[in-house]
Amino acid sequence: FDFFSKKNDFSGRKVLITLGPTQEAIDPVRFISNHSSGKMGFAIAKAFQQRGAEVFVIAGPVALDLSQKGFQVTHVSSAKEMYAAAAKLHANIDICVFSAAVADYAPLEAAPEKIKKQDAELTLKMVKNVDIAFELGKLKRQNQIHVGFALETENEEFHAKAKLDKKNFDLIVLNSAREEGAGFRHDTNRVKIFHRDGKTFHSELALKSEIAELILDEVKKAPVWI
Ligand code: CTP
Ligand code: CA
Repeated sequence: FDFFSKKNDFSGRKVLITLGPTQEAIDPVRFISNHSSGKMGFAIAKAFQQRGAEVFVIAGPVALDLSQKGFQVTHVSSAKEMYAAAAKLHANIDICVFSAAVADYAPLEAAPEKIKKQDAELTLKMVKNVDIAFELGKLKRQNQIHVGFALETENEEFHAKAKLDKKNFDLIVLNSAREEGAGFRHDTNRVKIFHRDGKTFHSELALKSEIAELILDEVKKAPVWI
C-alpha cells in the first residue's frame, strides 16, 4: 500500500470543468469565437479523473476526443448554453474549474438566414454575454472551491487578482500571454497561481499535463479543503 500515492486524493469529489471557446452565431453559417484549444482544461479534467474525482466537463467546440475518457460531457456552443449547463450542475459540485475562454460579447441576434454581401461596410451590434464564473460565484457555498483562469497582456498580476476578487474565486491561474510556447494552442504552459488568502505559486514552463497536476496540488491548499 502506497501511503504517498496521489492516486485517489480527489476520490468522492465532484468536479465541474468548463473548457474551450464559445461560438456566438452571426447567422446560420458564421460565428464569432477565439483561439482557445481547450487543452489546458482537458489536461485538468484528466488529472482530476486519474486522482479519483467524478468529472463533469462542459465543453465548447473543441477538436479533442472527450468521449474516450469517461467524463460526463455536455457539449455546448454559445456562452448562454455553457451557462445553462453549468448552472444546472453547480449545486452538486465540490470543485468548479472555469477554464473556458467564454466570448465576452455575442451578436444581439443571429440572422435567421445567411447574411448577403451588400455594402462596403457591415456593422454588427454586439451585447455582453453572461459571466458564468461571476454568476456562479454569487451562489458559491462555504464548502465549494472555485478556480478561475486569466490571460492578460499588461498589468497581469493586478488584473488577475482583481478577477479573483470580483468573481469570488478561491484561486486563479494566470497564463503567461507573452511567452513563446505558453498559452493558446501550445502543449506547454507557464502559470502563476494566486490564492484568495495571499498564497502564490509560480510554475516553470512545463507540459500542460504537468501544469494540471500542479493546479490540483494548489486546489488542496485552499483553506476550505482542509
Ligand atoms: N469567465 C466566465 N464567463 C464569461 C467570461 C469569463 O466564466 N462570460 C471566466 C473565465 O472562464 C475565467 C475567468 O472568468 O475563468 C476570467 O476570464 P477573463 O476573460 O479573463 O475575464 P473577463 O471578466 O471576461 O475580463 P476581460 O475583460 O479581461 O476579458
Ligand atoms: Ca473575457
